Amino acid sequence: MPMTADDHADVEVLFSPVRLGALELRNRLVMAPLTRNRALPGNYGQRASAGLIIAEATQVSAQAVGYPNTPGLHTPEQAAAWRLVTDAVHARGGLIVVQLWHVGRVSHPSMQPDGALPVAPSALAPEGAADTYTGPQPFVTPRALERDELPGLVADFAHAASLSRDAGFDGVEIHGANGYLLDQFLRDGSNRRTDEYGGSQANRARLLLEVTRATLDVLGPGRVGVRLSPLSRFNGMRDSDPLGLTAVVAAELDRLPLAYLHVIDRLDARSPGARADAVARRTFRGPLILNSGYGRESAAQALSAGRGEAVAFGEAFLANPDLVERYRAGRELNVPDEATYYGGDARGYTDYPFLDGRLVPAEVGVSD
Ligand code: PHB
Repeated sequence: MPMTADDHADVEVLFSPVRLGALELRNRLVMAPLTRNRALPGNYGQRASAGLIIAEATQVSAQAVGYPNTPGLHTPEQAAAWRLVTDAVHARGGLIVVQLWHVGRVSHPSMQPDGALPVAPSALAPEGAADTYTGPQPFVTPRALERDELPGLVADFAHAASLSRDAGFDGVEIHGANGYLLDQFLRDGSNRRTDEYGGSQANRARLLLEVTRATLDVLGPGRVGVRLSPLSRFNGMRDSDPLGLTAVVAAELDRLPLAYLHVIDRLDARSPGARADAVARRTFRGPLILNSGYGRESAAQALSAGRGEAVAFGEAFLANPDLVERYRAGRELNVPDEATYYGGDARGYTDYPFLDGRLVPAEVGVSD
């Protein structure tokens, strides 16, 4: 679509402040959580001009891991290491929450404590291969969690939320998306349980809601967000009624004092959107973060149309530490380099240039 003068006027909405629960964002451009398989404070410090940074998916326990070199938040040492990251962001006036996850069946015994089987709502393996320290290995059939293990999982999320405060985060995002444990409970392709955590849509939402309430109890109102991706097929996910499920989950979340609901409309930006966010908006009245495939003009249009309160950008923030400035000035973007997305060193992590050619702001360290 050709750009008009009106489109230009509209982009101002991106740079207006917005309140998401207890979080006062100075603009509506949110950095989406991005698995990078290496954690250094410089990456986030460089991107502190975002309205909000959602730090990458972070394990709530030793069992929660599913990928090499992803960060955790279940020990005091990890909280202390994260403090370097949150300090770097806060020193530059930014806000940062951490995404908390348990990968469930998207793991492999080689990464689990004592070589145990990964856990899941039901003993159903996803298609595909786990990303292990020795390369891809076929997914194994997970062990179905016992009913009496579930309170421990809720407690793990609450513990990580408590450590998130020690680490200096402004809040947490509960990862209920993309085929990881809480999403495995939500969708009937992966949840065949016959107890009160399976069957009806309300039952399948029970664990997500318990986790969300427990973290809210720790952090207080307005400091917990939830991410959902009801339409994503990533990690072998499917559901017989994804939009019905979305409406039910959103209605339940509406009863809680969330910071926001963050809805991925689709994981593959090239596929047409089916508007799961619009379904969520009908029953969830709190702040909504839109996600997937947005650019400067389309984000501004979505916000102007009242479809959400903020928009999350993944690859655009990955490759443009000063995305906010670039969008404000209507300048071109750096192109992301897929070869350096996962793992490795500073290349593709902290070396994307700012508009003025700077590589790293002088006051932010990147070494540890
Ligand atoms: C990934 O590492 O590929 C990944 C992690 C978390 C997500 C999606 C993808 O939510």
